[in-house]
Amino acid sequence: MIIAAKSDNNVIGKDGGLPWHMPADLDFFARQIQGCYLLSGRKSFESAQGEEIFRNKSFVIVTRQKDYRVKEGKVAHSVEEGIAVAEADGAGRLCILGGGEIYRQALSVADKLIITEVHTEVEDGDAFFPDVDPRIWKEYKRENHSKDKANPYDFSFVFYIRVPSA
Ligand SMILES: NC(=O)c1ccc[n+]([C@@H]2O[C@H](COP(=O)([O-])OP(=O)(O)OC[C@H]3O[C@@H](n4cnc5c(N)ncnc54)[C@H](OP(=O)(O)O)[C@@H]3O)[C@@H](O)[C@H]2O)c1
Repeated sequence: MIIAAKSDNNVIGKDGGLPWHMPADLDFFARQIQGCYLLSGRKSFESAQGEEIFRNKSFVIVTRQKDYRVKEGKVAHSVEEGIAVAEADGAGRLCILGGGEIYRQALSVADKLIITEVHTEVEDGDAFFPDVDPRIWKEYKRENHSKDKANPYDFSFVFYIRVPSA
């Protein structure tokens, strides 16, 4: 499963962090990854959100650096190797957390997408979610929410499943 939050123009990141502060999405994210074995790119792992997310979780970090080490987690040198490491570790449900580079490579092997659409256009983003091809991904659930005091943009939680045989 891939989980991501993206703007209407597919931005997921800016200057190494998230382009917004949306506590409702952080709560949703925390619920969705409960019980998951986590896979992340090295840059997202080292970003400000990383520390809290990975605490007390089993996880694998993908990097090209041969000597990279993480406390309490595993390291792999490709997305495929990361998935194999998770499987060898007995992962039940694997959650792929990004960022942009990892999403691009993992989209072809994922079975499910959980996307928070943050309804704004981010002009100066530098990390992106790939296009979700409707011939490959079937939307099966959508929850729309309005902005409020704490969450500055309208947002939607959208669930996709891979079209059989796609
Ligand atoms: N909105 C969201 O849902 C969301 C989720 C996650 C992250 N983000 C944001 O996305 C941004 C980070 O994304 P990003 O695309 O810059 O980086 P990223 O995907 O998190 O990490 C990229 C790094 O992963 C490693 N990597 C990628 N492909 C590899 C491969 N085939 N083999 C081995 N290693 C590989 C490399 O690490 P080395 O450089 O160590 O070799 C590469 O520099 C941040 O702004 C973050 O806040 C947003």
